[in-house]
Amino acid sequence: MSGKQIYIIGNWKSNKNSQEVKDWFHAIKNIKSDHEIVVCPSFIHLPLAKILCTTLNLPLKIGAQDVSPYSIGAYTGEVAAEQLKEMVEYVIIGHSERRKNFKEDDNILFEKVKRATEAGLKPIFCVPDENTSVPEETHLIAYEPVWAIGTGKSDTPENANTVIGKIKQKYPGKIVIYGGSVTSKNISLFISMENIDGVLPGKASLDAMEFSQMISVVSQI
Ligand code: PGA
Repeated sequence: MSGKQIYIIGNWKSNKNSQEVKDWFHAIKNIKSDHEIVVCPSFIHLPLAKILCTTLNLPLKIGAQDVSPYSIGAYTGEVAAEQLKEMVEYVIIGHSERRKNFKEDDNILFEKVKRATEAGLKPIFCVPDENTSVPEETHLIAYEPVWAIGTGKSDTPENANTVIGKIKQKYPGKIVIYGGSVTSKNISLFISMENIDGVLPGKASLDAMEFSQMISVVSQI
């Protein structure tokens, strides 16, 4: 376990106004970490999050929650990877909420990963199981069983470890993390598992104290 680089990637989804974003960053301003800590606010808050991260000198990276499958150009309402590149290092692609509510299929998701990697972004590609296809360029894979997302009922660390082991066999060399009702209470169980490289908390990442607590648990392992 020692020496393993752990990823904690907070997905804020469609939450927080600008004041709440400021409050969150100020509340975590004393965190310290040698691990890879990423927070993914809504598009509109990315510039603010980036400024706060820099001015408060936080050991934190910024990610987006989605990206256009198209390049820059006449695509009303979309945010292109080339634009995002100014603000973020990571981008979540294929979250189950996008697959379900916005009918995003493999064709679109694979295009998004292409656009992201061409622009130099690191895609975090979400899959609900070990059978879902993953594009070769993906930097990081997040195993997120749909029934565990936002339900307060996480997968067992043992099962998550088994599924992630299968994903790693299929896609050797990839970083693979677990998401679905991760909190400061159960995070250590997941990251102690051999195959699990980190976690993707949603709801628990919204609360600055809870997020700091997760970072502190990880630094003690
Ligand atoms: P949750 O969300 O932690 O609120 O279950 C996880 C996710 O959707 O990535």
